Amino acid sequence: MTQAREAILLVGGKGTRLRPLTVHTPKPMVPAAGVPFLTHQLARARAAGVEHVVLATSYLAEVFEPYFGDGSKLGLHIEYVTELEPLGTGGAIRNVASRLGSGADEPVLVFNGDILTGLDIQALVATHTASGADVSLHLTRVEDPRAFGLVPTDGTGRVTAFLEKPETPEQIVTDQINAGAYIFRRSVIDTIPVGRPVSVERETFPGLLASGAHLQGMVDSTYWLDLGTPRAFVRGSADLVLGRAPSPAVPGRCGEQLVLPTASVAADAKLTGGTVVGEGARIGAGARITGSAVLAGAVIEPGAVITDSLVGAGARIGSRTVVDDAVVGDGARVGADNELRGGMRVWCGTVLPDAAVRFSSDA
Ligand code: GDD
Ligand code: MG
Repeated sequence: MTQAREAILLVGGKGTRLRPLTVHTPKPMVPAAGVPFLTHQLARARAAGVEHVVLATSYLAEVFEPYFGDGSKLGLHIEYVTELEPLGTGGAIRNVASRLGSGADEPVLVFNGDILTGLDIQALVATHTASGADVSLHLTRVEDPRAFGLVPTDGTGRVTAFLEKPETPEQIVTDQINAGAYIFRRSVIDTIPVGRPVSVERETFPGLLASGAHLQGMVDSTYWLDLGTPRAFVRGSADLVLGRAPSPAVPGRCGEQLVLPTASVAADAKLTGGTVVGEGARIGAGARITGSAVLAGAVIEPGAVITDSLVGAGARIGSRTVVDDAVVGDGARVGADNELRGGMRVWCGTVLPDAAVRFSSDA
């Protein structure tokens, strides 16, 4: 069996809030390359043969349902299950098991909702099937693995340990990390305890390994990005526009820029590095925008310079203002001649007068 027909998408947890902008944490519904981020993952799953997706969330389903509905626009059947209290990753998976129609031995795709990746889902299923594993995990290599789940494997790719967020240097035994996409044999999902929080990373995987279960790793070097910070979210959006992160859901041709219908861009404005301009946004004369996401209805006044930043829906950036590696919240108004840099986050609706914030000297 080289296809998983069903998938569970994890979008919830304690740390996530419902603010309309990525000021705290990336929101699955914030547009990346013009469409809510989750669209890319859903479209990629569909392209790999998935037909039925259960969205396991601890938010209100009202966040997702108005946009994705029953999933038919994406060629999917999507169901929504909301936890009353966050059940953790494993608890969330178990909580939706009754929605699955797959047989006991069939493969079910499970994936974290905050990852942008070029994972070949069918290759992961093929690895899973060929190895006869109970669970197969997509692994990637990172320079600093401390914020992730470490997953050492033996010469055959079999997982030998799962160490979530290692705390001591001795625990850093590999640079291979859990990339947040799994193929579960369906019957393994049914063994996760019901009705209480369970972490798949801290409890289920180590427990399975201790009981002798077969966990198989598939390491590759495909595009992979954890969108855990606003900075990463902006990077991911730009990589989608550039075509570095493959997604069938990018609404247009990939390249240096993506300008959505009804946006207006002055003839001499320069958009590069995977910049996206959302619907109804306006870019003034001489503005230079690189690697950034300008969301719907935002206004960039003449001469502003925006780099690696996110400008929220309906926000306004004044003339000659510099925004570099920053997030400007929905509806915020930044006056002319400001300098916003270095990870700065301007809260939604904030008003900054002209020349209110500068980094460089007055001279
Ligand atoms: N429904 C639901 N309920 N979803 C949850 C819950 C929950 O209680 N808790 C977390 N999630 C979802 C998150 O929304 C996210 O999509 C995914 O599960 C992973 O949770 P994070 O909170 O983002 O975990 P992390 O980023 O610290 O670590 C995870 O991802 C890394 C890769 O980015 C782990 O899986 C690591 O092992 C992995 O390396
Ligand atoms: Mg995460």
